[in-house]
Parts: sequence; C-alpha cells; structure tokens
Amino acid sequence: MDQIRDAVLADQLDAIGGLPTPESYRAVLVRRDEQDMFEGLPTKDKDPRKALHVEEVPTPEIGPGEALIAVMASSVNYNTVWTSIFEPVSTFGFLARYGRLNELTKKHDLPYHVVGSDLSGVVVRVGPGVNRWKPGDEVVAHCLSVELEDPAGHDDTMMDPQQRIWGFETNFGGLAELSLVKSNQLMPKPAHLTWEEAACPGLVNSTAYRQLVSHNGANMKQGDVVLIWGASGGLGSYATQMALNGGAIPVCVVSSPEKAEIVRRMGAELVIDRSAEGYRFWKDEETQDPKEWQRLGAKIRELTGGDDSDIVFEHPGRETFGASVYVAKKGGTIVTCASTSGFLHQYDNRYLWMNLKRIVGSHFANYREAWEANRLIDRGLIHPTLSKTYAMDDVGQAAYDVHRNLHQGKVGVLTLAPEEGLGVKDHAKRERHLTAINRFRDV
Ligand SMILES: NC(=O)c1ccc[n+]([C@@H]2O[C@H](COP(=O)([O-])OP(=O)(O)OC[C@H]3O[C@@H](n4cnc5c(N)ncnc54)[C@H](OP(=O)(O)O)[C@@H]3O)[C@@H](O)[C@H]2O)c1
Repeated sequence: MDQIRDAVLADQLDAIGGLPTPESYRAVLVRRDEQDMFEGLPTKDKDPRKALHVEEVPTPEIGPGEALIAVMASSVNYNTVWTSIFEPVSTFGFLARYGRLNELTKKHDLPYHVVGSDLSGVVVRVGPGVNRWKPGDEVVAHCLSVELEDPAGHDDTMMDPQQRIWGFETNFGGLAELSLVKSNQLMPKPAHLTWEEAACPGLVNSTAYRQLVSHNGANMKQGDVVLIWGASGGLGSYATQMALNGGAIPVCVVSSPEKAEIVRRMGAELVIDRSAEGYRFWKDEETQDPKEWQRLGAKIRELTGGDDSDIVFEHPGRETFGASVYVAKKGGTIVTCASTSGFLHQYDNRYLWMNLKRIVGSHFANYREAWEANRLIDRGLIHPTLSKTYAMDDVGQAAYDVHRNLHQGKVGVLTLAPEEGLGVKDHAKRERHLTAINRFRDV
C-alpha cells in the first residue's frame, strides 16, 4: 500500500501498474455480528461511532469490467449513516442478495461490509474487458452499479432491475485505502481540486442533477421558483448551485443563521430559516397542521413577490412532505429522493389532484447524468461544498456529525492521502475558483 501511496504522492503515476497489488488494505466497515447492536433504541440514540470500525481486510479479486482503485479520499454520505445504524434495514441483506446473483458477485457477501459511496484516487488495476481506463489514471467514481443484462435498463440505467448503490448495496466501498468498482463508474478527476474536494461531490451532486435538472427528474428551466429543503446540506448545497446556474430562483430552507449565511454566499437571495420561523407542520405524531403549511406558502410568496414554487426539492420526508405538496404551484412538481425524517408520508391529496401537481420519485443518477454533473464540477460551474475533513480513523465521528445534522455541506475523509491540500494539477484554474471552492470551509 505504501508503495502505491508514495507513487501517487510523487506523481509517478505511470509506475503504478507495475507495482504489486497489496494483499490487504485498511477499510471502514460494519460487522454482520453487530447488526442487532442498536435494537430497541430510538434512531437518534444509535451512534455510528460504535458500529463503524477501521480494519485490515483482504483485497478482493478483480473481475471482468471491474477496476481496483487506490483511494486517496472519500466522503461521508447519509447512506453510510443508514448502514452504520442498521436502518431502515441492515445492509447485509443487500450483500447476501447480490452474492447470490452469480460467481462474480459472490465475493460481496462477507461477514463485514466495507462502506462508502464516493472516492477520488488512482486506478491500480483493471479487469478483462476494460478499455477506457488504465493504471495510473486519476479518477472519481459515481456510485451506480448495474449489470445491464435486462432490457429494462437500456434507456435509463437507473431502471436496470440489478441497479445498486456501490458501497451501500455492494461491498468494497470508497471509505478505504482500496476500492473495487465497475469501470463504468469511473470519471476523470477534476484537475483543479484536491483529493478531498474531488471526492465529496460525486453522490450528492449526481443525485441533485437528476432530481432537479434532468428530464428524468424535475426538468428545471429558467425562471422556475425552486424550494430547496436543507439548502446548505449535502444534496441541497448542489441543488442551490444548479438552480442559480440554470437561471432559476432558489428559495433556500435552512435551520440557522450560519447556514443562511452559507447559502447567501453561494448567491441565493431568498432564504427561510425554518428554526427562526418555528414551523410545526405536525401538531402531534398523527396530525398535521395545514395552517402551518399556509404559513410556509405565505412566506414563499412574500420572498418571491407572489410566486409559488414550480419545483419543491424534497428529501426530509415525513416531517415536510405535507407542506411540500401544499406549497407547490398549480401544475408544479414535488421531486423526492429520500425520507430522512420518516418514509411514511402524509399529504392532503385534494391539493395535489385539484391543482394538477406531480410527485416525481428520483434516485441517484445514470452514468450520463453523473458524468454531466461531474463535468459541471470540472468546468468550475459547480463547486465542492466540503466543510471539514476527517482522518479515516475518525470516520465514526464524521458519520455521527452527519447523523446529528452538526455538519455543513459535505464532510470529507482522508484515506491514503496523508494530509489535506494534495492532488491539485491545474493551479491556474484553482486560483480562479478558490473563493467558491472554500465557501463551506470552517463555518
Ligand atoms: N436517493 C438518492 O439517490 C439519495 C442520494 C443522496 C442522498 N439521499 C438521501 O437524502 C437525504 C439527505 O441527504 P444529504 O446528503 O443532503 O444529507 P445532509 O447533508 O444531512 O443534508 C440534509 C439537510 O436536510 C435538512 N433537514 C434535515 N432534517 C430535516 C427536517 N426534519 N425538516 C427539514 N429539513 C431537514 C437539514 O438542513 P437544515 O437543518 O439546515 O434545514 C440538512 O442539512 C438523506 O436521507 C439521504 O440518505 C438520497
């Protein structure tokens, strides 16, 4: 492992293909024999620090179409939080199912799960049938794993019945010194970014792109009013940038003056501090309060000069969904990719059908959407929203921060990179975008 790390750090990338493949590597994992450890506890008391371990594991065999990557940096996504608290289900069920698919996938079904759905790094080996990438290439990976043996996925790979999220529904994820991916997950690493900056957008940036911009999602256009929940969070910080870039009008919801300040720094002018407003969309566990939906709607109109939301960018779920359906404009779209606060949603359907609104489900992104989203980063049109970087040994704390909503934007993790700030190749381009790249730093 050290030889590979040294070659990357010395920029001797051509040498990497000639170095021996390490027999083992350090990885962040959860253990199958601990999957019941939090049974009976409320979600908020389940502590990722207890479940995530850093251990030495054997290097998996590389199969056809696969690539082994030396991971310089990764990031924490909410899916790692879900895995580490074994909610809504333990991810070992996913691994067992994938393992049953064929001889090649059997290796994923292990008593441990190496997690993580983002990486930046360097290709170490490629399996048979890989032409586009070679050892020494500097890459980032998106997290869509597909088999594509079924016709269903051939218009849009997200429709493949064997569609999985790498590092969540597959093993050998990115929070590790080595990672195994399918070669069609790879994309060029933007040369103006450090390893940890390059590793942080992948999952959320691609998801936000499909959800908001793609014709498979809300198909946003210029002038659209877009209500963005969690606008300074992982997904929201990219959705906000995309709305601004695309000529739309984001209305950013956040929960503190500090977060309001961050979204203003991105260029958003219309901001709602949900804590200051004190919205109580639920009177109790079972009953919502439509007056509070109306109060949110009135606030949006006040900020926009009378307009409702053409698009509501949803992911908090149960807590906000009733309000989201209500405040969407007549004919508007509520586009959802998650249910952080609970997946059994409740809304008043009269507002949906009478006002011809649409609810659109969205999940990650296909390769093309992920590539286009990465291109936006590469062109300096969208910037990473990295706020803080942790060492791999402190990944439990990093996941804890995200679980407790203590973080801003994205939280990075150094895997092989010994320190922050390494990996930049295009310094002139970086200089041009430096302020924007650092917007989320240390806030
Ligand atoms: N389907 C997919 O492909 C996909 C991809 C990425 C993420 N996700 C899911 O999307 C969710 C968000 O991911 P993320 O990376 O953006 O997480 P994140 O970084 O934690 O950001 C979420 C933001 O949502 C806001 N929020 C949290 N609870 C809320 C509530 N009860 N009401 C209103 N706002 C609330 C918070 O902002 P404020 O406190 O400032 O309001 C927080 O910053 C997670 O459940 C994740 O698993 C799904």
